[in-house]
Amino acid sequence: MASKTEKVLSILKLQPVVPVLIVDDAKSAVELARALVAGGLRAIEITLRTPAALDAIKAVAAEVEGANVGAGTILNSKDYEAAVKAGSTFIVSPGIAPGVLAAAADSAVPLLPGTATPSEVMTLREAGYDVMKFFPAEQAGGAAMLKAWSSPLAGTFFCPTGGISLKNAKDYLSLPNVVCVGGSWVAPKELVAAGDWAGITKLASEAFALKA
Ligand code: 3PG
Repeated sequence: MASKTEKVLSILKLQPVVPVLIVDDAKSAVELARALVAGGLRAIEITLRTPAALDAIKAVAAEVEGANVGAGTILNSKDYEAAVKAGSTFIVSPGIAPGVLAAAADSAVPLLPGTATPSEVMTLREAGYDVMKFFPAEQAGGAAMLKAWSSPLAGTFFCPTGGISLKNAKDYLSLPNVVCVGGSWVAPKELVAAGDWAGITKLASEAFALKA
């Protein structure tokens, strides 16, 4: 059986950009996920920041062929378990909490935990994690910070998220310790509200083309 590190890496390596979504209803989440998959972005993170999030994960997992739906903004063990039950194939957390790490240890569904300092990276390394989110990327030091970590924290790989767009994504993706980036720019609120799925597929295709 693949290790949890292998599992999370195989999902993150599907594409250079993981869309981070805040969804208001499950039905439009299905359309949105289809539009992203059509543009090549198959791993999709739906954040648990709205009441619709769990239903949206369930619907995308059941209805969107080719999608790999994960849950983001997981802050405690209860959210972890609910997100797994809804069909998430990966779990993303903005930081480290003992309850979240305990839930991850008990689950076959891998966690991408958040870090912003070398001490957090070292704490996660001790707990067996080699792949982490770097959050909030731009505010926490950006690509220059990850570059500075690459030698002392060698063997750790990151998905930076927060403040990333088509403009600066390459600064991160060109680093040897970056697997992919995350961002909400591929699903702007206005396009989702307008149901402009073709527009979203275009943004997703541009993001997919960042692949080296
Ligand atoms: C978030 O937490 O909202 C994600 O990190 C996405 O950040 P972004 O909206 O700056 O892309």
